[in-house]
Amino acid sequence: MQTKIFKIDPIDPDRNVIVRAAKLIRSGQLVAFPTETVYGLGADATNGKAIEKIFRVKGRPADNPLIVHVSDINMLRSIVERPSKVQLDLVSYYWPGPLTIIFRKKKIISDIATAGMDTVAVRMPSHPVALSLIKEAGKPIAAPSANISGKPSPTRAEHVMKDLGGKIPMILDAGATEFGVESTVIDLSVDNPVILRPGPITKEDLAPLIGEARLYSLKKGEKPLSPGMKYRHYAPSVPLLLVCGGANGIVDKIRKIADTETKKGRRIGILCTDETKDRYPEGLVKVSLGSRFSPYLLVKNLYHALRTLDEMNLDMILAEGFPESGIFVTLMNRLRKASSRILEF
Ligand code: TXA
Ligand code: MG
Repeated sequence: MQTKIFKIDPIDPDRNVIVRAAKLIRSGQLVAFPTETVYGLGADATNGKAIEKIFRVKGRPADNPLIVHVSDINMLRSIVERPSKVQLDLVSYYWPGPLTIIFRKKKIISDIATAGMDTVAVRMPSHPVALSLIKEAGKPIAAPSANISGKPSPTRAEHVMKDLGGKIPMILDAGATEFGVESTVIDLSVDNPVILRPGPITKEDLAPLIGEARLYSLKKGEKPLSPGMKYRHYAPSVPLLLVCGGANGIVDKIRKIADTETKKGRRIGILCTDETKDRYPEGLVKVSLGSRFSPYLLVKNLYHALRTLDEMNLDMILAEGFPESGIFVTLMNRLRKASSRILEF
């Protein structure tokens, strides 16, 4: 299959292109499109055959349910049972935007999309291209990140092309995405709200509306609340060692490890920040995520940086850990999932 890439203005999307993409969605095909978080691989959420294609193309395990994207509240009401007051409060405060909420599902949503669960994860994206595509299709669109399962989520159309080129008919290219990391997923159906996946909207952001939410972590042997949690994720194919510990000691520790490994003839890449980059010797491959004083930018650059390092023929990536509060919780969550080993000292 030939994959066509259509450049599209992120703020004022060309209607002709949107109509073309919406036709593909309505006829059961897949379209990759930008959202404010990452690129999504979209299909009609009410069409089981179309949803099956998503799982096949991504190589995604069938027990990992998809997020369904809506363009307005009526569409939300058509797919979920009786939203609660607190769910609607969050909807009116944070939508459109990078917050995914778990609802009780109606039958209209394909069971394949929700992996047989009686709940459905829904969000209303704020990206104009995503919103106009859903509106024009007139259907809720199920869309996981548009990467091969296990790879870092795509934050640019080139990433989608690399993973899915030849397997899908269309990619809408609106440039790099705004947040660069997947939406926050929250479950309010339980007594105390649980953040199933930290994202651009932090626990601190949510506190004024829902109080102190618990950040979900999977205990050994326990059945996960969110099936996606049990899979290693966002990972480059090169082993990544995440080094965590006392803020100052991290650079020294990484320098030592890099030195030992380089002496063994291994090629080392370092994932660092603007503030630490010059503290590593010349000659090492160094990729900076940006300044520690702009943590949202560190998050935004992470997946592109991981993909860049992955293409540099390295034997190992050494990554700096960060103290965990606010948006750094999201950054560390993804770094952990990308790592093959974590060194705490
Ligand atoms: O930002 C995003 O959320 C992007 C863009 C495209 O919108 N989408 C995305 O989808 O990241 P995906 O499929 O890569 O991640 C969906 C996550 C998975 O961890 C999955 O297990 C969880 O949401 N999930 C989906 N439905 C669920 C449900 N009913 N209950 C609990 N977790 C659910
Ligand atoms: Mg994903």
